[in-house]
Amino acid sequence: MIMERYPNARTIAIVCTQWGDTGKGKFVDYFAEWADIIARGTGGANAGHTIVINGTQYIFHLIPSGILYDKQGKMNVIGNGTVVYPYVITHELTILQKANMTHNNLRISHRAKLVLPQHIVLDRLRECGADGKIGTTGRGIGPAYEDHYARIGLTMNDILNPDSFVTKLRRNLKDKVQFLRTVDPEVLREIMQHEYLQFGAYFNPNTIFDEDAIVANYLSYAEVLRDMICDTDEMVRCMWGRHNILLEGAQGHLLSVDFGTYQFVTSSDCSIQGLAKGVGLSEKQVDIVFGIANAFFMKRVGEGPFPTELGGAHSATWCGTKGVTRTTELEQFGNVSVNDPDPFRQGIGIRMAAREYGSTTGRPRRIGWLDLPLLRYAVQTGIQKLILTKLDCLDSCETIHICNAYVYEGPDHWLGNCLLQKGDHIAIAVPDAEVLQYCKPLYQTFPGWNEPTGNVRTYDDLPDALKKLVAYVSHEVHREVAILSVGPEREQTIVR
Ligand code: IMP
Repeated sequence: MIMERYPNARTIAIVCTQWGDTGKGKFVDYFAEWADIIARGTGGANAGHTIVINGTQYIFHLIPSGILYDKQGKMNVIGNGTVVYPYVITHELTILQKANMTHNNLRISHRAKLVLPQHIVLDRLRECGADGKIGTTGRGIGPAYEDHYARIGLTMNDILNPDSFVTKLRRNLKDKVQFLRTVDPEVLREIMQHEYLQFGAYFNPNTIFDEDAIVANYLSYAEVLRDMICDTDEMVRCMWGRHNILLEGAQGHLLSVDFGTYQFVTSSDCSIQGLAKGVGLSEKQVDIVFGIANAFFMKRVGEGPFPTELGGAHSATWCGTKGVTRTTELEQFGNVSVNDPDPFRQGIGIRMAAREYGSTTGRPRRIGWLDLPLLRYAVQTGIQKLILTKLDCLDSCETIHICNAYVYEGPDHWLGNCLLQKGDHIAIAVPDAEVLQYCKPLYQTFPGWNEPTGNVRTYDDLPDALKKLVAYVSHEVHREVAILSVGPEREQTIVR
């Protein structure tokens, strides 16, 4: 266990340096053994991680993975910076109960922001139009954070106080109902029928939302969650310095609303700064920040520029097509290889080999080569050590390409007082969709290692060709690669 090397570290964080889905779940589990408290600080049910209980796999969205350490007294926290849809959390608690597991070790911040049915409706409605589509998870994340900043949001604490819940709910609904009256009622009805909105339970054809149904359901959630809701900021601060704290990032740096590839981002700040704040700490109180990166391919879900995407626009369109799943891809592309000469098909080959399908939405994840300009950009904000994951997925890949810089190919574009012009080279990415869409990657090409790595347990035993790639990445981004992952199991972890 790597933490033996850092006996003085008491608070650590794991964040993703890319667009999410880099294998944080495995490392939260790995570090949870060391931690006394595991805290989430951003995002909501847009995240997803797989938990295996008594041999059955479940995908959880809100409850942190550390819940499985119940018997060992480890505490799990859903912090103030998160957005919580109580429907999801109560559903996840029911799964735990059915599996005879307790959840005495879960605490939810009383200041966590509440996701309400209207947030989900607005999120889904925006995604219906072609204009401004982000490819969201449809979980109401954006509208819930918007309400927080517009100072009309509700918090978990409000469900404990029925009178103020009703007053605040009415105020919150007012403008939204006015706007929704301008929308095609059939479109609205269809959105409201979704399982996630309890099959129309909140719909009223006259008033749009059935306020009584919202109140009744949310107050019933309060009965289930009451004992878990508390001032978690205070709790984390009291434990800081005395107990081992693990901060669990959600999504990824490039999806941060403040630092990511705007506007194709989520609505929380998933950088280390946002994560620390979201649990009531400052990032200066974090001793070690581990940044996870998939190597030597990367991926994203949803819309937005992705300079190294294999198959470019063709792949983006295909992955955004409704109904495309692992099953459809298997039917259509069967035995496509990770070495296919056609980049679009090679991307599919890597996706299938690495099983890259969204755990929240089931969407195929777009696949591309590792992008060092984006990684150099991401590590600048406080990431000290790198964890490279999914190395085994490219075991049979004959040639690896790593993007080391971009050539800008777009029209003149002002970046503050700098003018970006066609032909300019960029070594550290500009996280702006308007610029990234015109960035053509320049690649370094390396021979693959062409041997299985899943059973390798020490760095020295890794193939030389792979070690050369690791050294190259570390040198290029000026960060130590502390851990490598060669498979989903905990023991498939190599500490350098
Ligand atoms: P939202 O967070 O649902 O609003 O979605 C905004 C963007 O973030 C979309 O492109 C999503 O696909 C992406 N996103 C949100 N959560 C995750 C995640 O956990 N992994 C990867 N992408 C995510």
